[in-house]
Amino acid sequence: MFVVLRLCSWLVAAGLLIPLYAQGQSKPFAFPEACTACHGSVTKYPVRGVRSQYQTSGHRNLPDASYSNADGCQQCHTNEGFIEYATTGKVDLKALVSNPSEIGCFTCHAPHERGDFSLRKANAVKLANGVVFDRGKANLCANCHQARVMPKDEVRARPIVAAPWGAHHGPQSDMLLGTNAYEFPGKTYSKSAHGFLAEANCVTCHMTQPRQRYGLAPNIGGHSWRIGGEVHERPTLNLAGCTSSGCHKELKQVPNKDLVDVKAGGDYDADGKIETVQEEVAGLLERLINKQGTGLLQKARNPLYDVKGEFVLNNKTEQPIEIVAALYNYKFVLEDGSKGVHNTKYAVQLLMDSIKALDPKFDDSKRPQ
Ligand code: HEC
Ligand code: HEC
Ligand code: HEC
Ligand code: HEC
Ligand code: HEC
Repeated sequence: MFVVLRLCSWLVAAGLLIPLYAQGQSKPFAFPEACTACHGSVTKYPVRGVRSQYQTSGHRNLPDASYSNADGCQQCHTNEGFIEYATTGKVDLKALVSNPSEIGCFTCHAPHERGDFSLRKANAVKLANGVVFDRGKANLCANCHQARVMPKDEVRARPIVAAPWGAHHGPQSDMLLGTNAYEFPGKTYSKSAHGFLAEANCVTCHMTQPRQRYGLAPNIGGHSWRIGGEVHERPTLNLAGCTSSGCHKELKQVPNKDLVDVKAGGDYDADGKIETVQEEVAGLLERLINKQGTGLLQKARNPLYDVKGEFVLNNKTEQPIEIVAALYNYKFVLEDGSKGVHNTKYAVQLLMDSIKALDPKFDDSKRPQ
């Protein structure tokens, strides 16, 4: 833009544009036609509205690009790294992105090369364990929102030396398909409808916008990528993707709570009441680590988590496989972030089996099949 303006001012200075003014008022200034689809007063694409949503998003605001600018991290954490990956199929592990920028418009689109908002990369994605994720536009998300390791390489009797150990913070693609968490020998694992329906994809659920007055808020839906957020000082869930896809005719949120109003198929966490899916999953997670300090991972011998739920640096102590497996699954479900919505059956099975392995008295008779 700067260059274009600069050029114009030089041309004016050189007297070259003066004849244009002289010919009447119709076209005093000709903004390049090719740019007006996106930049101008009336645009073909809603760049400004999208930007105001984007500015509220985690992609914009979680400041990870600067410290994840090398060692392969740049592939998912920086705009520059992802473009390199999308263009060449890999990133140079030794290179440093010296001026990293956060994931932005040009990461996912290539508007200045293509003249539109088609997705930079939307082909099927092979997850770490070889399972293929193929759900249309959501393939873009799966490039980054996936586990970085496999439990078969990680889960065994061993010390756990650092707090971030695990699948890596965003295993949503694996969770959605119901794959690549630690599956206990002798148990069978299944998946909810979201595990196989093409319509259940990241873009439909996270980016569909509500279509009513007062429904729209920049911090939910569309390019905020968020389903739940504060709107008019109240926790609000945008469930337009779930209903307009035709999958759920009626789906509501629990009034004033950040919870989808879907009752669980049973009292999975064995607390004596059947709650919503997300409360049951939260209850299962709390059996492993909780604020009261009574979680199974907090009470184990040489515990990895203290009473406050903080990771204990415990470098050399070898942990038994049940602890390592339970921790792997705990983090897998917690960091998936949906509290069981992405794949209720798989999430519940993983947690119930992990709890049972540490507490043989745990009642797992309600385990979904
Ligand atoms: C298909 C849409 C599209 C077209 C066509 C388009 N742009 Fe852009 N342009 C964008 C988007 C998206 C941004 C980033 C906006 C943002 O950051 O919110 C952008 C940003 C810019 C910027 C700011 C650069 C930066 O890095 O922030 C300049 C300068 C620019 N465009 C110039 C042009 C010019 C000149 C043309 C025509 C030759 C053009 N654009 C055509 C979509 C487009
Ligand atoms: C395959 C893609 C991928 C790679 C490679 C990757 N990450 Fe991530 N990382 C993610 C995603 C996706 C998230 C966000 C998950 C979420 O919020 O659900 C994330 C989250 C994080 C977080 C938590 C950030 C927060 O604000 O909550 C940290 C810290 C992090 N990554 C560090 C790293 C480091 C350091 C490396 C390199 C050693 C790395 N990541 C490599 C995809 C990746
Ligand atoms: C993390 C990836 C990602 C980022 C970052 C991103 N987009 Fe998008 N964008 C998408 C996806 C996915 C779609 C398709 C949404 C759909 O089909 O509902 C889309 C759709 C669009 C559309 C609608 C296109 C059409 O043909 O109607 C526009 C306009 C757009 N993006 C502009 C932007 C702008 C401007 C930015 C930066 C402010 C941006 N996007 C950043 C992923 C991204
Ligand atoms: C280039 C890699 C990449 C792509 C592509 C990508 N994400 Fe992300 N996403 C991340 C990372 C990394 C984070 C963590 C914040 C950060 O560092 O930017 C994140 C954060 C998020 C968050 C916010 C999490 C939080 O804790 O607030 C959501 C929601 C999300 N992504 C959804 C999506 C969806 C849906 C798509 C596909 C349309 C997508 N992402 C595409 C890498 C990516
Ligand atoms: C069936 C609908 C659905 C699908 C498909 C889906 N999500 Fe979600 N997702 C949700 C719901 C509902 C939540 C919980 C939102 C809340 O409580 O705010 C959630 C939570 C999340 C979160 C944590 C909450 C946040 O905003 O930080 C992330 C990150 C996320 N999803 C990313 C993804 C990605 C990436 C995909 C594709 C691999 C995906 N989701 C597929 C419905 C869906």
